Amino acid sequence: MLKDKHILLGVTGGIAAYKSADLVSRLIKAGAKVDVVMTKAATEFVSPLTFQTMSQSRVHFDMFGLESNMEVEHIALAQRPDVILIAPATANTIGKIANGIADNMLTTVTMASTARIIFAPAMNTNMYLNPITQENIRKLKDLGHLFMNTGEGRLACGDVGAGKMAEPVEIVEYLEGYFTEKDLVGKKIVVTAGPTIEAIDPVRYITNHSSGKMGYAIARNASMRGAEVVLISGPVNLDPPAGVKVVHIESTNDMMDAVKEYFDSCDALIKAAAPSDFRPLNFSDKKIKKRDNDSDTMSVELTRNPDIAGYFGKIKENRIMVGFAAETNDIEEYALFKMKEKNFDFIVANDVTQEGAGFKGDTNIVSIIDKSGIREDLPMMTKNDLSSLILDKVKSMFLYV
Ligand code: PMT
Repeated sequence: MLKDKHILLGVTGGIAAYKSADLVSRLIKAGAKVDVVMTKAATEFVSPLTFQTMSQSRVHFDMFGLESNMEVEHIALAQRPDVILIAPATANTIGKIANGIADNMLTTVTMASTARIIFAPAMNTNMYLNPITQENIRKLKDLGHLFMNTGEGRLACGDVGAGKMAEPVEIVEYLEGYFTEKDLVGKKIVVTAGPTIEAIDPVRYITNHSSGKMGYAIARNASMRGAEVVLISGPVNLDPPAGVKVVHIESTNDMMDAVKEYFDSCDALIKAAAPSDFRPLNFSDKKIKKRDNDSDTMSVELTRNPDIAGYFGKIKENRIMVGFAAETNDIEEYALFKMKEKNFDFIVANDVTQEGAGFKGDTNIVSIIDKSGIREDLPMMTKNDLSSLILDKVKSMFLYV
């Protein structure tokens, strides 16, 4: 989404400037072209050389330096970007831009540019809540510029409250959302992700290798494309995607209850989770002791969990349902069986024995098979790219229901 996008990053004088070095590195990794313009105050916090190394191009901060050709440089910089991002944005720079003051390279470039500005403010709580700052923010929003929310917490000055700059990962996600076509607006999509865990006793459980990455990528992407997304997630180690309602569950029964709550109002249910098919028949409410068992073996009797997709497949009406099949052999045969049994509109089959496919990693290798038997074998790609293709297919099916 950020590939070949031209981003002008303005860095102003706040302690959060150190985080912007990480931000540049993430933008470059995502394929963006980045010009960095620093205010003089920002250079007191982080050396321009840091940004120069990260962005692999000259950093601009001095309007009148011998190296810069002032007349040409600020105009050239102003014409290039698809968007201007100011992170961190101090109250001072926000105030200058809102009031037409152009007294340094950054404020001059923003004034000479027609690009939209995205501000990631960072400042002391009282400065942020000051009616003058709020009035400046309102003025800039009225002109079509965008402001990211600040986080709350302990600030560098010791105060606790609003004014913390959004994290680099959140800023990159925001930018990706900004450049994504909003073609799923008005659609409600429920996504399940991750494993479920089935308790044996208070300290032990049965689970599987699902990391949740596949389901989280779908949820994040659907939200960026404008859908209202509910993500029903087993226990995973991932940050919640921005703008997505996340419902945390543990067992397959919990997942069933959560899907029941959101199914009626949804347009599509995408089942990327790996729910456990079985759970221990008897849960011991006390830790099972080794010494209570004198044999070298031990058995845990299992009982079948509900088949969530199977249940909703019977009452789906015109909702789109997408299933996944994690297989180790006879992929097509099992996938077709599951699609029919659970009434999926299409199924995404992955051979979890292949390098780069299935659990945990950032990539997957899948075949997508639909009800009419059309099969598409896809090469290895990131789970993020795969999620776009899955959503394209869901979108094309909305047209026929
Ligand atoms: O989470 P990651 O580490 O990114 O890994 C991604 C993944 C491998 C988990 C994902 O790509 C995947 O294949 N998910 C489905 C795994 C699975 O449980 O497959 P299954 O063949 O057991 O189930 C078939 C379908 O029925 C799935 O859509 C599953 O969500 C659903 N199901 C399964 C069991 C059950 N009790 N209820 C269900 O609804």
